[in-house]
Amino acid sequence: MRKYTDFNTQDPPDRPSWVDGIDNPYLHGPYTPVVSEITAVDLPVTQGEIPADLYGASLRQGPNPILEPRGAYHWFDGDGMVHGVYFRDGKASYIRKWVQTRALHEEIETGKVRLSGVMGPYDLAGIAGHEVDAMNPDYCKDTSNTTLNLHNGKLLSAWYNAGRIHALDPLTLETSGEESFGGGLDTPLNAHGKVDALTGEYINYGYADFQPWLTYYVFAPDGSVRHKARIDLPGPRLPHDTTITKNHTILHDFPLYHDTSVLKRTGHRVVQFHRDQPSRFGVIPRYGTQEQVRWFEFQPGYVLHMVNAWEEGDWITMDGCFQPDPTIRRDPSEGPLSSMLAYLRYKGHLRRWRMNLRTGESSEQQLDDLNVEFCLPDIELYGQQTRYSYHQLIPTDLQTLAFEGLVKYDHLNGSREVYHYPKGWFPSEAPFAKSTKGGDEDSGYVTTLATNAADWSSEAWIFDAKHITAGPIARVALPGRVAAGFHASWVPGQQLWGHAARGR
Ligand SMILES: [Fe+2]
Repeated sequence: MRKYTDFNTQDPPDRPSWVDGIDNPYLHGPYTPVVSEITAVDLPVTQGEIPADLYGASLRQGPNPILEPRGAYHWFDGDGMVHGVYFRDGKASYIRKWVQTRALHEEIETGKVRLSGVMGPYDLAGIAGHEVDAMNPDYCKDTSNTTLNLHNGKLLSAWYNAGRIHALDPLTLETSGEESFGGGLDTPLNAHGKVDALTGEYINYGYADFQPWLTYYVFAPDGSVRHKARIDLPGPRLPHDTTITKNHTILHDFPLYHDTSVLKRTGHRVVQFHRDQPSRFGVIPRYGTQEQVRWFEFQPGYVLHMVNAWEEGDWITMDGCFQPDPTIRRDPSEGPLSSMLAYLRYKGHLRRWRMNLRTGESSEQQLDDLNVEFCLPDIELYGQQTRYSYHQLIPTDLQTLAFEGLVKYDHLNGSREVYHYPKGWFPSEAPFAKSTKGGDEDSGYVTTLATNAADWSSEAWIFDAKHITAGPIARVALPGRVAAGFHASWVPGQQLWGHAARGR
């Protein structure tokens, strides 16, 4: 049945039967959805010991469709499922649960999928007439499968294409509902908002293929809207991330976005790269307005994920994973999936942009030639100067997105270390977990959830962040499979259970 001959991995046994008939690589092999939720405690440790100063939760968000999708399946379309491994007192427990979106509720009730995913087709009448309410973008299925941020005691689950924010209990992963931020939210929200650990604020923005193009928000520590500003853009854009500094937020305008004329004509979304247009970063004061945005122009390209940004005098320094040509790997002979396959065949590098807010000067510099993405500093340090970041090394010859190694960058001395994952394993994005003993910036651990395609077992791996090339210092067997997915996040135990373990 399957025609993607390069994707010859066997499928795991714990899969929904409907995937067998669908020729789509992101429903097979390591991407195959699981069929159940799990809660388990006191997991077996198969190598080493769980460090006593590893205190908190390693959370991984990702797509896990319950029912056969409507229309062509994009990896971004799977119902959000969170995998959480909780470390405390040298022991580990595990929960995996779906995010209870309104689309999922409807599907469970009716037994079928009504809404198409990101590739459409959509209800043309609603789109052509711009009748889609900004807060109710129900022409496209919102799966809440992309990111997790802890804010105001809630685990905020968000979606790639800007959507509703779902609030989860960080300890049980139960969905409590859609988050309205005290009623102040009037647009969908982007997946990659940032929490400023110094102020407790959550900074994010909404965007859409319909007006308003971009709405910028600062949410107060209590979850209310502290600041909101509409930001004008030349048209609809497709940003994915943002960065913050102590006093500013950096917004994205890349020349890769949906052609809305095609959308209105056909009901399908097509992403186009305009190589004659610059990449633009808009620097806005944290509580700034449209009039205060300073735009800086750079080489055309696209960035899915930034590492971090910070201020040094009048300069803003920002690091991220840059794709000079995000469409370079498209092969039209791959038919209706060619656009998705190309989008996910990442080819880029670590880059640094600098912008001077007084003189308007700017510069950009390629920092390395490794094909790296899914980059994370210590996320407690977003907006502050960071020395280290942890990235996934991506093979350039794969048909689908997967990670072959963990890369640690030292931005002070310009060096890097690489740990190559064992063959046949599929690890996830790897967040940094600060030791409860404190210490310098890389005193702590890097965690990842990994699946072995040989027997479909999954494990949590713990690396000493100072010695990632030594491989995992501890491995914990998980009671269920972790399908390949998107973003991971570390939630310190102090924010889950309080400060009981501090100083151990
Ligand atoms: Fe992302």
